[in-house]
Amino acid sequence: MLFRKGLVLVFLLLCDWCAGQAPEFYKDVQPIIHANCVPCHRAGEAAPFPLVTFEDVTKRSKFIKQVVSSRYMPPWKADNHYNSFANDRSLSEKDIKAIVEWIDAGTPKGKANAKAEQELQARLDAGTAYKRKPDLKLSMKEAFTLKGDAKERFVMFKIPFEMAQEANVEAIEFTSNNKKLIHHANFAIHPVPDASVDLHNTVNVVDLSGAEGDKYYEWVKYKKEMTYYGGWIPGTTVEAYPEDMGWIMPKRGVVLLTVHFGPSSLDAESIDGLNVFFKKTPIKRKVKVISLGSGGIGEKEITPPLMIFANEVNSFKLRIANNQPDISLLYAWPHMHYLGKEFKAYATQAAGDTIPLVHVPAWDFRWQEIYKYKKPVLLPKGAVVTVEATYDNTASNPANPHNPPQLVLSTGNMRSDQEMMTLILMYVDREPGDDALVFKWN
Ligand code: HEC
Repeated sequence: MLFRKGLVLVFLLLCDWCAGQAPEFYKDVQPIIHANCVPCHRAGEAAPFPLVTFEDVTKRSKFIKQVVSSRYMPPWKADNHYNSFANDRSLSEKDIKAIVEWIDAGTPKGKANAKAEQELQARLDAGTAYKRKPDLKLSMKEAFTLKGDAKERFVMFKIPFEMAQEANVEAIEFTSNNKKLIHHANFAIHPVPDASVDLHNTVNVVDLSGAEGDKYYEWVKYKKEMTYYGGWIPGTTVEAYPEDMGWIMPKRGVVLLTVHFGPSSLDAESIDGLNVFFKKTPIKRKVKVISLGSGGIGEKEITPPLMIFANEVNSFKLRIANNQPDISLLYAWPHMHYLGKEFKAYATQAAGDTIPLVHVPAWDFRWQEIYKYKKPVLLPKGAVVTVEATYDNTASNPANPHNPPQLVLSTGNMRSDQEMMTLILMYVDREPGDDALVFKWN
């Protein structure tokens, strides 16, 4: 009897509009929208319209009802039965019910809560999705003009930096005045401690797809070391690190930013860069990144070699052993292009269970994600990481960039009409308390 009462109480607490009262915007709907939609649906981001205010949302309520009911939005492609992630953006049944019932009830506003909206707007105005303003804003010297000739382009930008002293990084964020133009971006942070190496006397921009692509070699002198390598794909926001973890931004160096622009039919300007957030607390555990497969370790060991014949569906495998001491994974970032159909990664030990890493059963190039683990995933020394990737190079793949289908290779230039099979892992060295640790992602 007591147990039943408890259940009823919990039910009422979780869902006070279930008892017959219609959900209200500010109380019931706005928190769901802000957490799960606004990362993309805000000015400058990848989605076509903002969903920040009451008006933004009510204006499109019919559409919103459709896309949340069908689970088309928010896009979330990982198999949650294989592994669950801290940044899972898919809506719960309860969230969907709240949104749908609110719309069916005629989108009642309820008591306005301007505070959440103003706080969000202030962050958007400051050009960041993080909870505070950046400590260091790095940006291209001048805007890059993307020609409206419907060609895709890979363009690299050099952004030099010099600070009074090195700093502990708490979070980093890719910024752009217009992310709709961009398929993805990667950045490498190179320290250049030697003051005799001039950071400015080389080109600032290289269009890798253009005639002067080999100007890139002017930057070789900056690339002796790399502090960090990160990226942005539609939907990703700030990369923040748990307590005690992060990496150290060197005092002086360059950011080499590679931007993959999608085809644009209008001339457009792009101003891109990074926001960096520092923390005063020490970094006890350095975050490291490893890239497996195309463009990284083991590229040549993909079997069979990554050649995808026209009119075929093909699977490929990569197996790589962890030769370092035990490590704890923070995130997994799978990457393929348009022919991608399925991606699965796991680790196995000589004696022991399979460690699931990530599974994307129905790959979609448009909706990629950096998957953050809830807890440190142990990758013990000697464990073998296996990546299995399937590609559909037939005419029935609507994303196939070639019509009719053609042989597709992976020649390392990362063009999106070629293919990649890559798993990027972010990790720290394993420590004894990690079994019990739950990450506090910001
Ligand atoms: C990962 C980024 C991302 C997230 C998160 C996201 N959207 Fe979208 N949304 C997009 C993009 C990009 C488009 C346009 C492309 C498309 O429709 O496929 C879009 C399109 C839409 C459309 C128009 C659909 C159409 O057929 O034209 C609606 C409505 C929408 N989103 C609502 C939402 C709602 C509601 C949420 C949260 C519950 C949400 N979105 C979360 C990126 C996102």
